[in-house]
Amino acid sequence: MCGIVGYNGNSNCFPFLISGLKSLEYRGYDSAGVAILTDSVVNLVKTQGKLDNLREAFAKAPLQGVLGIGHTRWATHGEPNDINAHPHKYGRVTVVHNGIIENYRELKEALMAKNHHFTSGTDTEILAHLVEEELNYGSEPLAAIWKTIGQIRGTWGIALLIDGYSHTLWCAKNGSPLILGQGTDESMIASDIPALLGATREMIFLEDGDVAQLDGPDIRIWEGPNVPVERAPQTIQWNPIMAEKGGYKHFMLKEIFEQPRSVADTIGERLHADTRTVTFSDFIFDPKRFDRVFLVACGTSYYASLIGKYLIESTARIPVEVDMASEFRYRNPLIGERDLLILISQSGETADTLAALALAKEKGATVLGIVNVLGSAIARKSDHTIYTHAGPEIGVASTKAFTAQVSVLVLIAIHMGIATGTLMGEALAELVGAMVRLPKQINKLLSQSAQINVIARRYSHAPAFLFIGRGINYPVALEGALKLKEISYVHAEGYPAGEMKHGPIALIDEELPVLAVAPEGSTSEKMVSNIEEVKSRRGKVIAIASQGDTNMGNLADDLFMVPRTHPLLQPILTVIPLQLFAYYTADIKGTDIDQPRNLAKSVTVE
Ligand code: F6R
Repeated sequence: MCGIVGYNGNSNCFPFLISGLKSLEYRGYDSAGVAILTDSVVNLVKTQGKLDNLREAFAKAPLQGVLGIGHTRWATHGEPNDINAHPHKYGRVTVVHNGIIENYRELKEALMAKNHHFTSGTDTEILAHLVEEELNYGSEPLAAIWKTIGQIRGTWGIALLIDGYSHTLWCAKNGSPLILGQGTDESMIASDIPALLGATREMIFLEDGDVAQLDGPDIRIWEGPNVPVERAPQTIQWNPIMAEKGGYKHFMLKEIFEQPRSVADTIGERLHADTRTVTFSDFIFDPKRFDRVFLVACGTSYYASLIGKYLIESTARIPVEVDMASEFRYRNPLIGERDLLILISQSGETADTLAALALAKEKGATVLGIVNVLGSAIARKSDHTIYTHAGPEIGVASTKAFTAQVSVLVLIAIHMGIATGTLMGEALAELVGAMVRLPKQINKLLSQSAQINVIARRYSHAPAFLFIGRGINYPVALEGALKLKEISYVHAEGYPAGEMKHGPIALIDEELPVLAVAPEGSTSEKMVSNIEEVKSRRGKVIAIASQGDTNMGNLADDLFMVPRTHPLLQPILTVIPLQLFAYYTADIKGTDIDQPRNLAKSVTVE
């Protein structure tokens, strides 16, 4: 959460800072600010609210300079207002920060006893005070930064400027991402790749504990005081267009429509249709090594994990436990050396998922990360990583990352099923064949998106929705409800259809539409009964059914047909109309779809 940018070169830095912040705004949008060095002094412009407010404030008090830093905030300590907006300046030192300084209170009290006066309610301001204090004792800037780091606990991505140092930008990382961009005669920093793509594809991923000093294009990195370290630049394949809206009204809509490509890229060369095998560059499953699999994640990635349980258990016949990362870490899980922990995360940064990783490693488990963001913390810390090639996901509500995660889980399930000898012959051939057809089917489904828009309009006044599904489509119901809640602010609940009569059926009346995820399969007759139960209580049903299912057509009030596929692949198709339903409902309501209230894309705090 929170986005940081910095520029050090010979062009006016504001255009880079503002466009970088724009592409990081998904990380938080409570306030924003920039600090630019002019005539050896760092000046600030910062304001509550989104970047447009910052643009306006900057237009009234523009700054020119070739060295600057910027920040977009998701508030943790201190309410979102102008004063708490970053950057923070004390004495000569100006700082922006992503993360949490856990011991800031005690440090603040000690500094106040030395007559330091604090202006904000943030934990971040402490950093400027500590560095200034060390400078006052005569330390050089780099030493002052190391001494400050020696006193703080918590997580940080920090960028720092000092009055009088007209050529240097310092930064430090621990637990929050920070990437350096290497230009020809300039260097940049950012919390995430998209912010740098317009300037360079050569990027250096800082490690936890690193401090870096950028002097124009010269980058130096230390992994400890006086311990220089080389971190090789990587050439990033994502292109700037991928991080733009490309004519769509919102990133979310663009990302929904990218799914034929993102699923195809994720399957990529891992699935060998000719030999009916699946290989990964960084993972081979050895059934002799593992007794159990754990799938652990948060939010949408957790729902992908629930689908993963169905996939792995049905193809490889290995027991799978699924946990929300925030629960896993506090339940003293029985996990050990003979367990494989699969962590799923779009951002690769989620604090609870990272904590689950640390815990599982401590207990001797092997960790496989399924991650979208290159070089992210989970990717680096896992024993093995499989990337979802969804490309940058900017909309706060996750869409293409989910279908890419489920695609990877299908590949893992096939790979494991072959290894355990439980998936072979015709069953294997059918699954592989269906997987190959999937991207085209997603394309076909998306070509009928207008139907969903019509349905969404019809129900846009409903005060709440119930989403139901069974088996592998039950997590899809959960995901559909989550999408609707987070972007349209309408209450929605996902439920296993078979549980309706144990309580939620009491809610059913003409006012509560029920979205039934009901493609063909072993539980479709049961789904029909569940839908009948809703109908006989005058409930309205919108069904997601398989192409040609006339039965469902006669039963539901509204219907959206998805192409027929292998039952294990259905979630990748059935979730898409639900993503569109949430999108169109939110659009009708006029909410801020890409940046819904109170949310940020990567949740790097507990
Ligand atoms: C919902 C959403 C969140 C994330 C969750 C985990 O649309 O985006 O629920 O899925 O915060 O994030 P990652 O996958 O980055 O660990």
